[in-house]
Amino acid sequence: MSSNILMLSKLENQEIITDKKEFSLDEELRRCVLQLQGQWGEKNQEVIPDLCEITYYGNSEMLKQVWLNVIGNAIKYTPEGGTIEVKLDINPKNEQEVRVRITDNGIGMDKVTTERIFEKFYQGDSSHATGGNGLGLAMVKRIVELCGGRIRVKSEPDKGTQFTVYLPIENKEKEDKKKKSLNAVNTAGLK
Ligand SMILES: Nc1ncnc2c1ncn2[C@@H]1O[C@H](COP(=O)(O)OP(=O)(O)OP(=O)(O)O)[C@@H](O)[C@H]1O
Ligand SMILES: [Mg+2]
Repeated sequence: MSSNILMLSKLENQEIITDKKEFSLDEELRRCVLQLQGQWGEKNQEVIPDLCEITYYGNSEMLKQVWLNVIGNAIKYTPEGGTIEVKLDINPKNEQEVRVRITDNGIGMDKVTTERIFEKFYQGDSSHATGGNGLGLAMVKRIVELCGGRIRVKSEPDKGTQFTVYLPIENKEKEDKKKKSLNAVNTAGLK
């Protein structure tokens, strides 16, 4: 509990993403699924990965928190024997973005609930009994926004839920160029 509160307040005070590197996003998602195997295995759920090979330039540790929380929720809010799909591809509507989509066939949410889930400490009516403290998605949203991305949710009670995370594709060369031109502007201003 307290570690999540600390983590969220740290994220709220953070303005840029540091420690970026190139890493395999499909591999990271596969590792998260494996890390959660105890939880979905115990509920006899099936997790179906559908992952394109994508190398992403970003902060892998922070993004890992996003996947663990969203996949963790899918497991938590899906009954025994349910199915969870983890999909990674390029956004078909914008090739400059990667798309991670986590779909479950669990308890779902009504419209009023979906509008509030990203708030700090908010938990749906049926969730209070299941533990947690309603910080998971607040953290997820903050990380995604720091990465310049966005998160969308679609859900229907008793049918299931779909979370989609869109992240802008960046690369080191592009960022170095941006830094250089910013430096040029700054030094020009000093002259
Ligand atoms: N996949 C899902 N299916 C149904 N409801 C969900 C799903 N994911 C999130 N929710 C709803 O959104 C609420 C907020 O989620 P969030 O992850 O922030 O908190 P939590 O899971 O209750 O607690 P914590 O993550 O802090 O352990 C949940 O309480 C639940 O009502
Ligand atoms: Mg959660």
